[in-house]
Amino acid sequence: MPEPKLAPRQVALNQAWKHRGPLMEEFFNRAFNGPITALEIGTWFGLGSTQIWLNNMKPGSTIMLVDAWKPYASKLDLKSSVLSRDMDTMSTDAYLSTLVNVRKFENDQIESDIKIQIVRSDSSTFLPLLSENTFDFIYIDGDHKYNKVKNDLIHAKRLINKEYGVICGDDLEILPTDELIKLSENHKETDFLNMKSKNLDYSFHPGVLLAIAEEFGTVSMLNGFWWIVCRKNEFCLS
Ligand SMILES: C[S@@+](CC[C@H](N)C(=O)[O-])C[C@H]1O[C@@H](n2cnc3c(N)ncnc32)[C@H](O)[C@@H]1O
Repeated sequence: MPEPKLAPRQVALNQAWKHRGPLMEEFFNRAFNGPITALEIGTWFGLGSTQIWLNNMKPGSTIMLVDAWKPYASKLDLKSSVLSRDMDTMSTDAYLSTLVNVRKFENDQIESDIKIQIVRSDSSTFLPLLSENTFDFIYIDGDHKYNKVKNDLIHAKRLINKEYGVICGDDLEILPTDELIKLSENHKETDFLNMKSKNLDYSFHPGVLLAIAEEFGTVSMLNGFWWIVCRKNEFCLS
């Protein structure tokens, strides 16, 4: 079989997409009105979600940015997506951009008293080192394949403040149904399933959907941004 020919696409340096960014910001401001301790898994260039949290956190907050900043596409991703291949070639640029942009924020917002920690590590080896109940806010946007999302969610549940905390993330385009869960179980190594080629009007990340279905059953979701709130040890939708 000949290799599929894929047209190159421009990789976005800010991946807090236009249809999600404003609602992520609004959600964050509704959820928190004082200083918090936050964790972001998946920072990329530090120009997307990271800027939203930095620009909306209250003085006295701390944010830990965890990203492997290494190639992470699976063989399957590399076969089906030029975007994954191109992202893999940009991981060191992404790391350097984050350093520069964090420094810029610190210089520009010298009064803000926001502490920023940068951790270059695979989340699956780093998160187990952290203590439970550490974070009020956890945003998950790392590797979207099943095993990695599952691991990020298991640790997020352990790490979140059980009195009041929010776990949220990117790329849940559609809520889990029995049919989609079954389909996702056959695509654990796939980043993105384009269902438009099967004449369906949606596409989605099967690993994100399956891991969320297993860990939470369901969550709240708007335009692909998903969240769940922990109150007094109970996970609830709002
Ligand atoms: C979709 S991008 C994040 C986009 C970013 N949140 C934004 O709004 O622009 C995914 C990021 O996850 C990182 N990543 C992939 N696998 C990871 C892993 N196992 N541990 C930590 N980070 C990972 C990649 O290096 C990449 O920077």
